[in-house]
Amino acid sequence: MPEPIVQITRREEFSAAHRLHDPALSAAENRRLYGPCNTDHGHNYAFEVTVSGPVPRSGMVLDLNALRSILREEIVSIVDHQHLNRDVPFLAGVIPTAENVAVAFWERIAPRLAPFEGVRLVSLRVYESRDNFVEYRGERG
Ligand code: NI
Repeated sequence: MPEPIVQITRREEFSAAHRLHDPALSAAENRRLYGPCNTDHGHNYAFEVTVSGPVPRSGMVLDLNALRSILREEIVSIVDHQHLNRDVPFLAGVIPTAENVAVAFWERIAPRLAPFEGVRLVSLRVYESRDNFVEYRGERG
């Protein structure tokens, strides 16, 4: 029998400031487009990373401690208590909406999972609040 494929999810939290602002637009256009989000403000963010893979003899798709270490190294240690527009090299030039942040996080995490055979990144959710989240599943088009 082939091994069952199971998804596992790790959640991490961080706090950061940001501002939604497109330098290609005028101040008035930015205010119209982004409203109050055009000024500096902060969020208590959370993000959830879901990976899938076969369940081998060990019973673990991926050691959750290994996943936690990857997320802290690649994301949390870099963004926590920072200003996403100014302080985070991997977000340079990115308008830090939750959508763009989710894609940027995906691009950092996916290569770190490559060494784990059969393990695949399937979903990355970014929560700006309890009620609002975005989800990226690696699709383009
Ligand atoms: Ni915001």
